[in-house]
Amino acid sequence: MNNIERGLLQSVCENNMFGAKKYARCILLNNKAKSNEYFCNEMIHKLDMEDEMVLPANLKGLLFVEDPKETFKEGRYYLSSREQAVSEKIFRMCHASQKLAELGVNYVNSTMLYGESGTGKTTFGRCIAYKLGLPFAYLNFTRVIDSYLGATSKNLSNIFDYVNGRKCVLMLDEIDAIGMARKSKNEVGELSRVVIGLMQNLDRLTGDTVVIGATNRLDIIDPALLRRFTVKHEVVRPNREERLGMVRKFFGDVGYDIPEDKLQKFAEPGDTQAGLENRMIMELVNFYSEQEDSVEEKIDKQGDNNVYDQTTA
Ligand SMILES: Nc1ncnc2c1ncn2[C@@H]1O[C@H](COP(=O)(O)OP(=O)(O)OP(=O)(O)O)[C@@H](O)[C@H]1O
Ligand SMILES: [Mg+2]
Repeated sequence: MNNIERGLLQSVCENNMFGAKKYARCILLNNKAKSNEYFCNEMIHKLDMEDEMVLPANLKGLLFVEDPKETFKEGRYYLSSREQAVSEKIFRMCHASQKLAELGVNYVNSTMLYGESGTGKTTFGRCIAYKLGLPFAYLNFTRVIDSYLGATSKNLSNIFDYVNGRKCVLMLDEIDAIGMARKSKNEVGELSRVVIGLMQNLDRLTGDTVVIGATNRLDIIDPALLRRFTVKHEVVRPNREERLGMVRKFFGDVGYDIPEDKLQKFAEPGDTQAGLENRMIMELVNFYSEQEDSVEEKIDKQGDNNVYDQTTA
């Protein structure tokens, strides 16, 4: 047994997770065998993500940091050509912002997704984090404002202090909750200060953070806040071809062989991605409950036959 293995075992026996992870990382980094390469890379990725996901106490319940490998279901997600083009733009901006940082030019990689509810804005944010292999840091403004309006500015500063300089995708979801136009009739003094604070925080972000905003109400977002987002992209309901793609992917992933006539019905344009997903789930519910019914019927029939056999015997 070498010293690293000894250290690992000792740390585990003493319930010292910090030490155990340190030795585990050494073993993974020292591995030279090609056959273990994939495993080692996956484990190093997990350790890195875990480090990133430990939040300071003052951010618990405000910001949620996830490993998108755990939370994003690629096998069920249909990436339309429109969203594909946006994600490519974001990847290019990642590259450019690194170069610009080297030149001392600050540039924030920021995209605002807008569109009606259920079209997949939040899911697309997760998809970007997944594709970039970065932690997904999620902030929902409705929740932050509901529970902490008085402390929102301070909370936002704490969140941005934590995020700044970290490689991650920061999703500012339901941003309209604070983004209401500063000059609108509904203006509330505190919210107005929060909007200004958010803009200042965005301005001091470094190029490592990818910012994705999302809203159903682009019309009430302060134009000065909107200007901080270099790309604005509307996420819309799927067309026929996209619906077919989404349905095929979803049912393919769950291993359900959808009959052609039903597939064509799902493809008819209409509801949002969320609506379509609900209908696909109902299709599975019906399929499995019908299967259950037919098994029960068989059992009942068998029971009846047994009774008949006994009475006629
Ligand atoms: N492109 C897609 N492929 C497969 N499923 C999708 C896609 N887009 C969205 N969905 C599904 O639709 C549902 C709604 O998506 P999501 O919550 O991201 O919408 P949203 O635009 O953020 O809605 P809201 O504005 O109400 O927050 C999710 O359960 C998601 O799995
Ligand atoms: Mg959403």
